[in-house]
Amino acid sequence: MVLVSNKELMDKAYEEGYAVGAFNINNMEILQAIVSAAVEENSPVILAASTGAIKYAGMDYLVSMARVAAQSVDIPISLHLDHGPDFEWAMRCIRGGFTSVMIDGSKYPYDQNVALTRRVVESAHACGVPVEAELGRLVGVEDEISVTEREAFFTDPEEARNFVEETGCDSLAVSIGNAHGIYKGEPKLDFERLEEIHGVVEVPLVLHGASGIPDHDITRATKHGISKINIDTELRLAFRDAVRKVVCETDVYDPRKFVGPARDAMREVVRHKIRIFGSKDRA
Ligand code: G3H
Ligand code: ZN
Repeated sequence: MVLVSNKELMDKAYEEGYAVGAFNINNMEILQAIVSAAVEENSPVILAASTGAIKYAGMDYLVSMARVAAQSVDIPISLHLDHGPDFEWAMRCIRGGFTSVMIDGSKYPYDQNVALTRRVVESAHACGVPVEAELGRLVGVEDEISVTEREAFFTDPEEARNFVEETGCDSLAVSIGNAHGIYKGEPKLDFERLEEIHGVVEVPLVLHGASGIPDHDITRATKHGISKINIDTELRLAFRDAVRKVVCETDVYDPRKFVGPARDAMREVVRHKIRIFGSKDRA
């Protein structure tokens, strides 16, 4: 298949009460792990690339690999810009072949976030590309973004409704107790707030920072409008642990001997997530 857009994947998930996984890619093995897991589970999947990933791997390499992956399989796959920081990055990715973009204006005051998001939405929609926006601010570290506890705040339901109406965004990432990176204690999602947001916002919702959130909370969130769930840290940990095991326990120096097991470990993480997201057999 050719790469599809997030909108196609998420609108269906939203109506049917499950979520599509958005897994971060940085190199070929990570991408292969994600796609092979999605094929095994017969699930749609979103390949998410941050600006850091694009700088690391190169725009053309990433887009080409994603296209090859999509063309080789029968499940729907989209290529999505994760946490796009500004208008220029969003446009660059659309021109480069991304089929979906996120504009993350959550670092700005409300009005500035609206203005930036609206500008990206107008241009992206003219190209047939959907836009994810963010309101509220997640604590933690994700690639090139770092937010302290003092800077973080939850999404306000009324503000979220106005934000979606004013910007025309296709989906909205919310801050309800979720955090980027490794959680310090047991994560506690504010389901009351999520239900309120879901009640007044008419687009699919997105849960970032989902690594480390217990399975039952993830499944519960998919019943309240969460239609896309982002996972990065758990893939990184699986990669690191698998490489470390081989490197520390043997003398092998062929990279395939430690990156290969890392790919296998990440594939199992993705398969498990797909099952708890409810997207198994939804391809
Ligand atoms: O945008 C990416 C994510 O929100 C991933 O968060 O690294 O905490 O899984 P995570
Ligand atoms: Zn995120």
